[in-house]
Amino acid sequence: MSTVVNSRKVAVIGTGFVGSSSAFALMESGLFSEMILLDADQNRAEGEALDISHGLPFARPMKITAGTYDDLVDAAIIVITAGAGQKPGETRLDLVKKNVAIFRTIIGEIAKRNCQGILLIVANPVDILTYVALKLSGFPENRVFGSGTTLDTARLKYLLGERLSVDARSVHAWIIGEHGDSQIAAWSSANVSGVPLSDFCSMRGFTEHDQNMEDIAEDVKNSAYKIIEKKKATYYGVAVAVRRICEAIIRDEKSVLPVSSIQHGAFGIDGVALSMPAIVGKNGVEKQIPIKLSEKEQVELRKSADALKEVLKSIDL
Ligand code: 2OP
Repeated sequence: MSTVVNSRKVAVIGTGFVGSSSAFALMESGLFSEMILLDADQNRAEGEALDISHGLPFARPMKITAGTYDDLVDAAIIVITAGAGQKPGETRLDLVKKNVAIFRTIIGEIAKRNCQGILLIVANPVDILTYVALKLSGFPENRVFGSGTTLDTARLKYLLGERLSVDARSVHAWIIGEHGDSQIAAWSSANVSGVPLSDFCSMRGFTEHDQNMEDIAEDVKNSAYKIIEKKKATYYGVAVAVRRICEAIIRDEKSVLPVSSIQHGAFGIDGVALSMPAIVGKNGVEKQIPIKLSEKEQVELRKSADALKEVLKSIDL
């Protein structure tokens, strides 16, 4: 008998900084009437469920409880944030061993049950763990994807908005590839409300385009390092990105978001999960959008895919 998905139910696995901030953002979103929190530390999950629930009289009614894997069976979205986070000086890829081991347990539990929901992977290294979750779950590809460079893209839009004194939401620009050190700023397609980015920059009195673009891309890439150095972890930005992705799914918005999903040949990339803009709706990743990339960007994207493939080789799935 197949389980019916409850489109008003979400689950968050892992209630550390990222999981609890995401749960808080999801509570505020009003998208769901039920939220299950799971953590290896049951007390922690219970504490977060209570704390977040106490905000409900100021938001919209819903049930927030600490649950078990059996409670995930009919959840429309299972957000997975569980795993070790980066420490100062560590890269996301340094987390592979620890977090793949954690994923073997979590995805094993999910796969045992007839879960019909979407797996939204947030833990790092997100591209590697998305691939691992896809393989271990046996779920169809559209139902397993990662938050990927949704956060990096937001960081890029924020920085460009600040620099150019324009609403970040009017900036259309993507960070693609790995959510990590080999990510690429897809400058060739960047624009502000349809005006090519370099024209908009000139309009605002900026002329050193190449240098400025390089500086901004570096800033985006180093954002997490900078924050982790100062406050040990990043969580609010990603929490809002999780909320945005869930909104696109639950409202079947068919929004184009740079999520991490398995690639099948676009730009010569195959058999690895990385971020490309994709249409996200009630079926999860519905279609990847092969945006226009310059030759240089394509070369960098392939390098990013190769770096991820190298890591995948070390994992026995
Ligand atoms: C971030 O980019 C660490 O992946 C996390 O903030």
